Amino acid sequence: MSGSQSSKNGAVVWFTGLSGAGKSTLAEALLPRLRAAGKKVELLDGDIVRTHLSKGLGYSREDRDINVDRIAFVAHLLARNGVTVLVAAISPYRASRDRARETIGSFVEVHVAPPVAECIKRDVKGLYQKALAGEIPQFTGVNDPYEEPLSAELTLDTSAISVEKALSQILITLRELGYLEESELARAEAPGDAANPS
Ligand code: ADX
Repeated sequence: MSGSQSSKNGAVVWFTGLSGAGKSTLAEALLPRLRAAGKKVELLDGDIVRTHLSKGLGYSREDRDINVDRIAFVAHLLARNGVTVLVAAISPYRASRDRARETIGSFVEVHVAPPVAECIKRDVKGLYQKALAGEIPQFTGVNDPYEEPLSAELTLDTSAISVEKALSQILITLRELGYLEESELARAEAPGDAANPS
């Protein structure tokens, strides 16, 4: 960890975790906060990437690795041009996340980690019910592996904290790692103030 990064450089905030853990929710909530801080921001969400860049890929280990490698490739291009990139993808394999970290460099891994029982209870897309009934082969957390990060920059149990609290922890982590300056953190923490200066 280093606090010496220039906040003019981009970075990649990589949300990993089970389907329904809250990755997209956090990334979508973080995006306008970082914009309010003056950052250029892009979101690469697994569900959306799979309708374009990764169209046609399935959920075997090989296909998931290709998907994650593609996301990492694009995220790297953007980050090196000063964009803060938010990635929301299950990215279940440690090796592929570590490869992304190596490719990208400025990498902030956020493990979105409610208990699997909570994801099953939420079941926003109805996929857990189908997976548990044996209708979806290789469903992460049910009949396919999820390898937890060993040294994520941040772990968030979204069953125990609010979105607002989670955002605050992410922003503080970005500040501590040098990806946000103090004034940018202040604007991200109180985005309304930027719109209505007194
Ligand atoms: S990853 O494993 O390749 O990183 P990604 O995040 O892009 O996954 O896509 C996951 C989304 O695909 C889930 O949120 C879910 O909506 C859908 N999905 C469909 N089949 C599966 C499956 N077998 N395992 C996990 N997610 C699946």
